[in-house]
Amino acid sequence: MLDELIAKLKSITADAEQALKAAAGPADVEAVKNKTIGRNGELTALAPMMGKLAKEDKPAAGKAFNEAKTTVQKLLEEARERIAEASGAAVSEAIDVTLPGRRWRIGTKHPVNQTIDECCAIFRRMGFTAAAGPEIETVYNCFDALNAPADHPSRDPKDTFYFDDGRLMRTQTSTVQIRTMLSRKPPIRIVSPGRCYRRDTPDATHGVHFHQIEGLYVDKNVSMADLKNTLEAFAVELFGQGVSIRMRPHFFPFTEPSAECDFSCVMCGGKGCRVCKNSGWLEILGCGMVNPKVLRNVGLNPDEWQGFAFGMGIERLTMLKHRIGDLRLFSDNDLRFLKQF
Ligand code: DAH
Repeated sequence: MLDELIAKLKSITADAEQALKAAAGPADVEAVKNKTIGRNGELTALAPMMGKLAKEDKPAAGKAFNEAKTTVQKLLEEARERIAEASGAAVSEAIDVTLPGRRWRIGTKHPVNQTIDECCAIFRRMGFTAAAGPEIETVYNCFDALNAPADHPSRDPKDTFYFDDGRLMRTQTSTVQIRTMLSRKPPIRIVSPGRCYRRDTPDATHGVHFHQIEGLYVDKNVSMADLKNTLEAFAVELFGQGVSIRMRPHFFPFTEPSAECDFSCVMCGGKGCRVCKNSGWLEILGCGMVNPKVLRNVGLNPDEWQGFAFGMGIERLTMLKHRIGDLRLFSDNDLRFLKQF
């Protein structure tokens, strides 16, 4: 009986070796495993036979059985390695070196940033330098120093994001006027682009965050005529010859007098269209002569220094430049949109 068992073990091992040599893939190897040492395998099926052996034969039978099992396991492992190596080689041989390389797309500048750069470049040619300020601001820089009345609605937490410590997300880039006048002496000629935040309900023309560009000019003998000339030159540089501007009286706490400045409609040339609501004019920016109270707040004597200031929304300029109908497209980050610029 022992001899019979040993013969069987030998033939199972030999068969397995044969089958594994021929195995072409992982499935073949698994099949051999199941056939031999699997739960219903041939080796496993021999175990009951062991129990029936004569007592003196049992040690030799056990040894032979364990050896056969180890051998099969080793053969399985070798076959697995051989197949894995072969499939790796097959993959590398499958690389077609004549295919063109993978294209790395270079990103493009966001249309809002393009407008910012363009505006800054225009004002740079007129002698303005760029200034920056933080988006997290004090109530003083955003409202108090800019002469906003204590009960001005824009201060309301319904309209402005406040931190627990009383600071806020700036609602306008006019904050940089204060920072600049506090930190350097006139003459001052700066533009300051940046992001602003308001608690607006987002729609096609309003966003919770948006960009403005602020301008400030402080010197001796600055007049409203300088302001108008500067804005006119800017309008023509940005939108081309033929664009004219007009100023309408308005109110801003930080300028006196204040005005809103319209550009002749860049869509219809002033004839009247849907975009300008048939008026021929587009509301573009706020501006005015720096309020003497603001000058005093930053320690400048209004009898000695005057200034003009202006501020405008970058998204609106960009929408007009590229005929974009919805401001939300700027922050959706949809590549199909961004790739067009
Ligand atoms: N800060 C104003 C706003 O957010 C825009 C503005 C108006 C800025 C008049 C100015 C200015 O500097 O003089 O609506």
